[in-house]
Amino acid sequence: MRIAVYPGSFDPVTMGHLDIINRSALLVDKLVVGVLNNNSKTPLFSVGERVNMLKEVTKKIPNVEITSFSGLLVDFVDSLDAKIVIRGLRAITDFEYELQMSQTNRMLNGSIDTIFLNTNLKYSYLSSSMVKEVAQYGGDIGEFVPEQVIAKVYEKYGISKESIS
Ligand code: PNS
Repeated sequence: MRIAVYPGSFDPVTMGHLDIINRSALLVDKLVVGVLNNNSKTPLFSVGERVNMLKEVTKKIPNVEITSFSGLLVDFVDSLDAKIVIRGLRAITDFEYELQMSQTNRMLNGSIDTIFLNTNLKYSYLSSSMVKEVAQYGGDIGEFVPEQVIAKVYEKYGISKESIS
C-alpha cells in the first residue's frame, strides 16, 4: 500500500491546501494529512480545531485521513510506514525553504522522499497568513478558504460572516 503524508500547520486550511490534498489523494492509496502540533508557534486555531476543519472539508475523499503530530516529521512518517512526503510549491520563493526541509529530512531518514506538487495557479498567491491578515480587518476570504471554514476564521476575530459584503 502506497501511503503519503501531507504535513503542515493548516492554520487554517486554504483552498490551495485542499487542491493539493485532492490531487495527491489520486496518486496514492492512502493520504495522511499531518497537522503539526507545535508549541513554539501560537496558532490562531488549536490543533484539535485544525484537525476537525480538515476532516470536515475532506470527508468526501475516501482515502484521506487527518491526524496531528508533534516532533520530527520523519518520525511521524516512519510510524505510519510511509515513504512519501507531499508538499505544495506555490512560487520560486517557496523553493529554498522547501529544498532545505526535504534535504534535512533525507539526512535524517534516507528512505523518505518528498514529492512537490505545483499549486494550482488560481491559488498561487494564497497562504494561511494572508487569510488571517485579510480576515482580521474584515476583508472577504470567501475565495480563499473552503465554505465550512469561512465563519470559523471570522469568529476568531469577533466578526460575523454575515457582516462581510
Ligand atoms: O505549513 P507549514 O508550516 O509550512 O509546515 C511546515 C512543517 C510542518 C512541514 C514543518 O515545520 C515540519 O515538518 N515540522 C516538524 C519538525 C521537523 O521535522 N523539522 C525538521 C524538518 S525541517
